[in-house]
Amino acid sequence: MYENIVILTGAGISAESGVATFRDNGGLWEQHRIEDVATPEAFQRDPDLVQHFYNLRRAQLGTVDPNNAHKALAKLQGQHRGTVTLITQNVDDLHERGGASSVVHMHGELKKVRCLSCKTVHFWEGDCDQKTACPACGGAPSLRPHIVWFGEMPFYMDDIEMALSDCDLFVSIGTSGNVYPAAGFVASVRRLGRAHTLEINLEPSEGATMFAECRHGRAGDLVPAFVEEILAAG
Ligand code: APR
Repeated sequence: MYENIVILTGAGISAESGVATFRDNGGLWEQHRIEDVATPEAFQRDPDLVQHFYNLRRAQLGTVDPNNAHKALAKLQGQHRGTVTLITQNVDDLHERGGASSVVHMHGELKKVRCLSCKTVHFWEGDCDQKTACPACGGAPSLRPHIVWFGEMPFYMDDIEMALSDCDLFVSIGTSGNVYPAAGFVASVRRLGRAHTLEINLEPSEGATMFAECRHGRAGDLVPAFVEEILAAG
């Protein structure tokens, strides 16, 4: 029934895996100030603190596993007869470990760092600090988390805009709709007037009224059911 599907995911899809969201009770932004750990100015002011914050989050990935929602989306990507563009604001690797074949990480990835001198992006599993030299150019200190901080431009926006303009189903899963440009994707899709829009979230997001359809509950329950529906419709 649907040909080109675009899925946008946020922290809510990883919540049942044990990864803290940002804005829920006990979320990351209750425990840390954004301006201390997630801006270019913070990194300039106190790089050790910022590296430590991301080192802890990177290490935590070793203790969590993908849940049924990640696995269901991977199944959709593998079995849908049309295209499934999976865009995530998450910097974890749970979509990949859940089996997704292609993931657009618009806010970057915890398991990557990049060199501010030679610009090389490195796959990175352990800790990174100001003493670590860039494996490509040897520069130090020159590595930063490959994360899009507040005030920076998300990655892959051209590809994302193309996918949004071409889709006939847009689904937003587990995001509070507070952070642009992702929060504006539903409006872009609706302006074109071709695609059905669906929100799957624990509770109505900031932008819930923009969606043609909303399903509220846990992603681990609702996403597998949604995927089976789409695959059954052909
Ligand atoms: N199932 C579905 N949704 C859930 C679940 C769950 N089990 N648990 C929580 N949620 C919902 C919450 O109700 C909330 O609306 O997930 C949403 C998470 O919202 P945020 O914490 O704001 O996360 P997100 O929208 O991904 O944040 C966007 O903000 O700080 C930046 O860069 C960071 O990518 C992040 C961006």
